[in-house]
Amino acid sequence: MTDTNKTAGSAAPRSGWHILGEYIARHRLAYLTAVLSIALSSTLAAIIPRLVGRLADTYAAGTLTLPSARHLALLVLATGTARVLLGWLGRFLTAQHGRIITFDIRDALFRKWETLTPAYYHGHSTGELLSHALSDVDVVRQVAAMGINTAINGVFMLGASMYFMFFHMNSRLALAGLVPLLAIPALIRHFGPKIKRQSGIFQSTLGQMSQTVEEIVGGIRTVKAFSNEPLVEKRFQDQLTELVEQKMRFVRLSAIFGALVPLMSAFGFIAVIWYGSFLAIRGEISLGNLIGFLLYLTLLKQPLEQLGNMLNTVQRASASLFRLSELLEVVPDTVETAGEDSVPPETGHIEVRDLTFRYAGTERDVLRSLSFSVAPGKTLGIVGSIGSGKTSLAHLLLRLYEPPAGTIFVDGRDIRSYSLEHLRRAIAYVPQNSFLFSTSVSENIAFSHDGAPDQEAVVRASRIASVDEDVAKFPEGYATEIGERGVRLSGGQKQRVAIARMIYKDSPIRILDDSLSAVDTRTERRILENLAAGDDGRLTNSVTIVVSHRLSAVMNADEILLLEDGAVAERGSHAQLLALGGTYARLWELQAGEVDKSDSIAPVSVPAEILEILRTEDEEALNESVEDAK
Ligand SMILES: Nc1ncnc2c1ncn2[C@@H]1O[C@H](COP(=O)(O)OP(=O)(O)OP(=O)(O)O)[C@@H](O)[C@H]1O
Ligand SMILES: [Mg+2]
Repeated sequence: MTDTNKTAGSAAPRSGWHILGEYIARHRLAYLTAVLSIALSSTLAAIIPRLVGRLADTYAAGTLTLPSARHLALLVLATGTARVLLGWLGRFLTAQHGRIITFDIRDALFRKWETLTPAYYHGHSTGELLSHALSDVDVVRQVAAMGINTAINGVFMLGASMYFMFFHMNSRLALAGLVPLLAIPALIRHFGPKIKRQSGIFQSTLGQMSQTVEEIVGGIRTVKAFSNEPLVEKRFQDQLTELVEQKMRFVRLSAIFGALVPLMSAFGFIAVIWYGSFLAIRGEISLGNLIGFLLYLTLLKQPLEQLGNMLNTVQRASASLFRLSELLEVVPDTVETAGEDSVPPETGHIEVRDLTFRYAGTERDVLRSLSFSVAPGKTLGIVGSIGSGKTSLAHLLLRLYEPPAGTIFVDGRDIRSYSLEHLRRAIAYVPQNSFLFSTSVSENIAFSHDGAPDQEAVVRASRIASVDEDVAKFPEGYATEIGERGVRLSGGQKQRVAIARMIYKDSPIRILDDSLSAVDTRTERRILENLAAGDDGRLTNSVTIVVSHRLSAVMNADEILLLEDGAVAERGSHAQLLALGGTYARLWELQAGEVDKSDSIAPVSVPAEILEILRTEDEEALNESVEDAK
């Protein structure tokens, strides 16, 4: 249990390599087997040039017989086969576990992201986060699979070859052939940091560009409405040019680096051919040894090139791992403070005591000395001008931001003593701008529950939310996809699907944050009636908080708070507030006029018969009654 209100930030990350270390340690048996197989395979490979060299020497000495040749051939065959099989096993294991690691890291990232609050997402764009989940994780996979493979292969092949060359063949020739290879570490030291830096720049440019694309696509209507295409196009092109430039710089660097490595091995060849022939002519080495040396250089050429490429990947992975470790070690600013004894709230009775709140890093209290309570079966209406703190209050109830201790209670317990899961399961919240997923209507409505949607409950929720008739008109009813591949919903339809989602969740507490703004007042009234009475006429036992700009949405609430600048300016029932003759009453006069004109139903004192008909949701009957009333 850590305490709260730490700003989302990172806890001094280490280099990042420990992430890979931890994952490898978790699959250590597989990695150990892989490393042993690859090591053995590479050592066996280094025996073959030695065997071929011996064959040449036996032939030169005139002692080659058919049985001894056959013997040698069989030996080469057996060594070769074992090497191929072991190498395959090693590659298979590392590739397979590379995939598992990718999965594990992405899983850890998503779990981390789920714990983070809006405050964190305020400072990090989706494009940036996606780039972490996709390219950074993939670079790590390359190291965990191909990287380990080539490193072990390279080290053992080089080690075994050097052993034979230095101790069984000719140490001076070995030195001449291998010296050029010693230049490789120097090259790496020179190019490595540059490549790493360039990789970082490229990745973040890519992140910025994904963000731009996302913004353009997401805001395409706004862009078009303001005829801002040229501006947006220019911005995108600038970023694209920047991206290409950064990538080219990266490619140039890695290309030079990648070319110098094989060049060094070519120098090794020249040295062996020249100096080796000289030694052979002087009779200091046998023909077999000269052939053996050339075969060793051929053998070492590829692993050394791979080693160079791998160091390239390691440099990139180092940048990626650093970013990933920063991400994985972010401390969420709302953390689990509940003990083991958390039980889900039952009645949902809300009590707020003297709540004052300000966002971390700001200077102003957005809520000031707020106190109220809402009992089960009751409705609290909250109205107030833009920025008066209504949404902030809803977010605090959900602990999306952390309220001070001892200020918000549900069922008599501080909400900080509930586990986040228990608390959030007890609250069905319709945000100001609800997000609908690109899945079917019913899956969107049944979002709160795992598994297949309960169709009956979906239909019932839609009826209460007054969206059932709209859905019936969609091509595939509740199975219709929402969004890009399916139907596009109007603002009012979206809001009502979101309300149906809230109803489906069936939680003791319901919060509607200006969720009826895009529906007409008549539908608004019908939904509120349905919410209060359910579709079977039984009064609901829920605690309901309705936030609205429109007074008609709160007029029937048991208590109404008028917020001004985060503090309660007026409070009471609709009648009391009208009698008070303050801001509320003034607003009411203004808005009642509007409602009158647009919907031809006065929100004040709707006749009981009409309410009854509203409950039956029979529009024709409603229209008739309205005509009658006139
Ligand atoms: N994440 C945040 N960090 C800092 N300040 C914030 C944050 N979210 C909101 N605010 C500030 O808090 C104040 C209250 O905002 P809030 O969204 O609660 O108002 P609201 O009453 O819901 O307004 P609206 O009617 O427009 O929805 C505003 O001044 C806003 O700028
Ligand atoms: Mg708001």
